[in-house]
Amino acid sequence: MKTAARIGPVTLWRKKAEGTSGPVVFVPTMGALHEGHASLIRRARRLAGRKGSVVVSIFVNPTQFGPKEDLAKYPRPFAQDLALCKREGVDLLFHPTPEEMYEGDSSVKVCESSLSTGLCGASRLGHFNGVCTVVAMLFQIIRPDIAIFGEKDWQQVAVIRRMVRDLKMPVKILSHATVREEDGLALSSRNRLLSPESRLVAPRIYQALLTALMAAEAGETSVARLRRRLTSDLAVIPRTVVDYAEIVDESTLLPLQKLTPGSAARALVAVQLGSVRLIDNLGISR
Ligand code: PAF
Repeated sequence: MKTAARIGPVTLWRKKAEGTSGPVVFVPTMGALHEGHASLIRRARRLAGRKGSVVVSIFVNPTQFGPKEDLAKYPRPFAQDLALCKREGVDLLFHPTPEEMYEGDSSVKVCESSLSTGLCGASRLGHFNGVCTVVAMLFQIIRPDIAIFGEKDWQQVAVIRRMVRDLKMPVKILSHATVREEDGLALSSRNRLLSPESRLVAPRIYQALLTALMAAEAGETSVARLRRRLTSDLAVIPRTVVDYAEIVDESTLLPLQKLTPGSAARALVAVQLGSVRLIDNLGISR
């Protein structure tokens, strides 16, 4: 596996990869890699085949964190991440510094102005501008044929798909199913910041989503009722403050009134559990 902290060597590597017949498949991350990332990388490896290449980036992107968010305490276990990438057959690991990525007087941003305004965007102002900007930069540097994102960040995937569509970026976006602990907790780099007490109750987030799914499957069609129940199931989790619990169209992220047969609805939630913000989502069909 080749590693690069500078853009120059990546550009050279990319030129060489042009001569090969397989695709360049890219998994962007902020590190603190876990089994969820490993499963994205394995998918990338399968898609790339022997002739293609798998690129992973590790970059804790400062521009997607708000001033009161957890940038400083975001976990950065680089040696472990490196070992995971080697084990999973990554060809190139790009791990730039903020100085390598952002010019001191950088003044251009990529802003998505529709899908990113609600849900996480409402409480994390500027978050998706930071995500879009860094992902656009990473796409420029790596020029992947395919990029894979985890579905735990459902809104992120929708926003990135929109950016790629609207800016005609020549990359295919794939999403990959959320990987969960045995008790249902969605894998997240932030899970390791949970206190033991919070970790114990964290699976109740997924249970609340499953309860909404079961109610829908049992015939409940009113989104308002489903949403009320979901919110109260989350609110009773100890040390939890509900940021949002919404049931939306899974592509447009627009609110729904009723579940109809064949409607592609998804419940998305965000909670502050102790000092850690967790998100999760689940398809809600009838
Ligand atoms: O999902 C993440 O880890 C980040 O938001 C991403 C896509 C790597 C951009 O910094």
